[in-house]
Amino acid sequence: MTDIAHLLNITKDYILFKCTAKPRSGHGVHSPMVYEFSRAVLCNKNNYEQPNEVEWLRNWQIDSSISLAPSDYGAGSRMMKRSETLGAVIRKSSVSPKNGAFLYRLAKWNNSKSILELGTSVGISAMYLASSNPDAMVLTIEGDWQRAELAKNSFDLFNFKNIELIEGDFEQGLNKALNQLPVLDLVFFDGNHKAEPTLRYFKQCLKKVNENSIFVFDDIRWSREMFKAWNVIAKHSSVSISIDLFHLGVVFFRKGIFKQHFKINF
Ligand SMILES: C[S@@+](CC[C@H](N)C(=O)[O-])C[C@H]1O[C@@H](n2cnc3c(N)ncnc32)[C@H](O)[C@@H]1O
Repeated sequence: MTDIAHLLNITKDYILFKCTAKPRSGHGVHSPMVYEFSRAVLCNKNNYEQPNEVEWLRNWQIDSSISLAPSDYGAGSRMMKRSETLGAVIRKSSVSPKNGAFLYRLAKWNNSKSILELGTSVGISAMYLASSNPDAMVLTIEGDWQRAELAKNSFDLFNFKNIELIEGDFEQGLNKALNQLPVLDLVFFDGNHKAEPTLRYFKQCLKKVNENSIFVFDDIRWSREMFKAWNVIAKHSSVSISIDLFHLGVVFFRKGIFKQHFKINF
């Protein structure tokens, strides 16, 4: 599909989504758990104070002209493979301040202690996750050595002792992480934007879910195939609640509740 066709499709989807999705206030959501999630995580009614240092670092690095070779990973990117500045990498691939704060509040609300991230890049989202709780352990996987080095420097700069970066391909890194983590409280899938690997990583991670686990998928509308993969995940028998936030998809594994799917404006 050309970039223009993709843009037109996504605009149509967006308008349709806005017209049909529930408000983030939680009104009209017939699920106590999703209502609570909307209030605490989407609306921040619990007044969780997100960390300032991550945004301070972003603002400092966003003008950086350090040149990074194109990442060999993340097949599915529509962007041209050429060197980019650190600033451009942050602008294009790091989680936005809004979604970073979302991850922080989600981890805090869920009291997530055992967190996994696929796709560190230069470390912005990992720092949001790790800030949610000093007792939480964040394992984050990155295949590109330059991005991994920059991320490690940032973790050291802010003295994040609760982040471990696994350098290497997801194929090996995920096995290593799953052997290390007793359970997965929260997983952020933010690397490969292709359907087949996304579904494979999802299934691998299912081995370590419990009732309180939450999985978040970024860029579920990146492409038609990513959206199809999201729908397979949302319909999977182990998933009880799925929430489509347009760019992000969130799934829960609570037992004893009706399987439900929600679309919420965020
Ligand atoms: C969108 S960026 C991650 C952004 C980061 N989560 C954040 O918000 O700050 C995706 C990263 O995943 C890495 N990646 C993609 N596919 C990978 C794979 N198969 N193995 C290892 N790393 C991969 C890329 O190199 C890239 O740095």
